[in-house]
Amino acid sequence: MAANFFRDKMETPLLCLISVILSLFLVSIISTLYLPAQFTELMRFTTSKPEYSISMDQLRTKVSADRNQLRAVSFREHGHHLHQSQSRNRTATRIVKRLSREEMLEEGLARARASIRSIAVSNLSLATTHSDGGGDIIPAGVVYRNPHLFYQSYMEMEKRFKIYVYPEGDLPITHDGPCKDIYSIEGRFIHELEHGDGRFRTNDANVAHVYFLPFSVTLMVKYLYTPNTYDVSPLKHYVSDYVRVVSTRYPFWNRSQGADHFMLSCHDWGPFASQGNPLLFNTSIRVLCNANASEGFDPRKDISLPEIHLYGGVVSPKLLSPPPDHASRPHLAFFAGGLHGPIRAFLLKHWKNRDNDILVYEYLPKNLDYYSLMLNSKFCLCPSGYEVASPRLVESIYAECVPVILSKNYVLPFSDVLRWEAFSVEVHVSDIPRLKEVLSAIPESKYRKLKEGVRAVRRHFTLNHPPKRYDVFHMILHSIWLRRLNFRLR
Ligand SMILES: *[C@@H]1O[C@H](CO)[C@@H](O)[C@H](O)[C@H]1NC(C)=O
Ligand SMILES: *[C@@H]1O[C@H](CO)[C@@H](O)[C@H](O)[C@H]1NC(C)=O
Ligand SMILES: *[C@@H]1O[C@H](CO)[C@@H](O)[C@H](O)[C@H]1NC(C)=O
Ligand SMILES: *[C@@H]1O[C@H](CO)[C@@H](O)[C@H](O)[C@H]1NC(C)=O
Ligand SMILES: *[C@@H]1O[C@H](CO)[C@@H](O)[C@H](O)[C@H]1NC(C)=O
Repeated sequence: MAANFFRDKMETPLLCLISVILSLFLVSIISTLYLPAQFTELMRFTTSKPEYSISMDQLRTKVSADRNQLRAVSFREHGHHLHQSQSRNRTATRIVKRLSREEMLEEGLARARASIRSIAVSNLSLATTHSDGGGDIIPAGVVYRNPHLFYQSYMEMEKRFKIYVYPEGDLPITHDGPCKDIYSIEGRFIHELEHGDGRFRTNDANVAHVYFLPFSVTLMVKYLYTPNTYDVSPLKHYVSDYVRVVSTRYPFWNRSQGADHFMLSCHDWGPFASQGNPLLFNTSIRVLCNANASEGFDPRKDISLPEIHLYGGVVSPKLLSPPPDHASRPHLAFFAGGLHGPIRAFLLKHWKNRDNDILVYEYLPKNLDYYSLMLNSKFCLCPSGYEVASPRLVESIYAECVPVILSKNYVLPFSDVLRWEAFSVEVHVSDIPRLKEVLSAIPESKYRKLKEGVRAVRRHFTLNHPPKRYDVFHMILHSIWLRRLNFRLR
């Protein structure tokens, strides 16, 4: 079955064949690079596991200034060869051209790294009120690991970043995704990238920094999965087939072993689907809501995607206008949700209908309104369910209700840039019985700072159509950009 999905598009034009042959000349060695020393701060990830960080020694040997100069020289040499060979041998010309393009691409990235590094050295001080001329507030303050590096890296992304979207695959499973309900971010991202203003997209695969595999795991589940079988093999077959097709028709997958390719999925089974190709799982950038560090999610290359629940395709208007800052929030904490997974079972066991300050419901009584309760609570509990992510995280941020993270092995969204500890509270699962004690012990001054932090990061979790700078679409792109800066094609 799976083998038929792309058959209609399989006839290989001569040009493709030539590029296939040429790509054989290119030895595809991927060197993992490391960002500037100061990026270690940016690229440190908080999980319940030991923190991941990037080795500075490696960085110094691999991305030194000398090295960049060397590469600039060798690039000019290639240009020279190109000129000479043009009159002589067409095949050779093509090979050299391809090499030059790659060199050029890497040269641009080297400049971006250098520019980001220079900011780290100059240590500009930015105030929260600065505007960057585009009317946007420059990132500043405690919610960022390093606001200067983030800003510089973001600007470099806007200047350079180009994504190629593979045209292979047909509706309904590729080039589309859900735009309503819990996995809506899948569809919104695919639509924005394929039908948006195209600023970050290129139709010339040779100049792209990264390659997008535009399938939707949610739609695979809808169209390929047989309910109640728990058999995810059709999903794996689809993914495996997709990668086989693009890696046969284009030289790019083999060139990087998939390292400059990415997929995006919010469905719980996104990680399973990615097992369809071992390199996709182990090497490619996987942008996943189900960012479970115990299931192969590797924050050095993978990206944690926020889950955004759009009932009927939109965010509830209530959440869009949270009460003024000084409005009182009578409830200490709130949760309502089904008994999914062991953490929720533990939470419900200890707190369901137990306390007037910690409001915990399995089923919300008919006379109560979910979002009103969020807007009237200081803290919103966000326990993992069947998978680590919860849409409550983003809903809490919209409601300006400080999220309380109750999870294990969850790599939090955008934690490469954001300091979650500045706008959320993490409570160890074993401390759930002491939840009231823990939350009551947070002084008012600390709570106000956390709430301020929530307001500061809100724009990074907001979906706009069309997208706005620094919003969730751009944060996802920036995460991908950062991962791409971390390696070099050779
Ligand atoms: C052109 O260059 C290629 C690669 O260097 C070589 O294999 C081929 O023999 C050359 N052809 C001619 C006609 O010189
Ligand atoms: C950069 O500035 C911060 C705060 O303004 C300061 O703590 C830090 O030491 C400075 N770093 C360098 C390398 O000057
Ligand atoms: C990439 O490698 C695979 C497996 O080795 C091979 O079948 C495919 O033809 C290669 N693709 C290109 C474009 O050379
Ligand atoms: C990832 O790599 C490991 C070790 O090389 C391998 O055992 C594993 O099967 C790979 N993962 C997948 C999903 O293939
Ligand atoms: C995360 O992965 C581990 C290992 O597979 C699993 O035991 C755990 O249940 C997962 N967490 C969630 C919330 O699904």
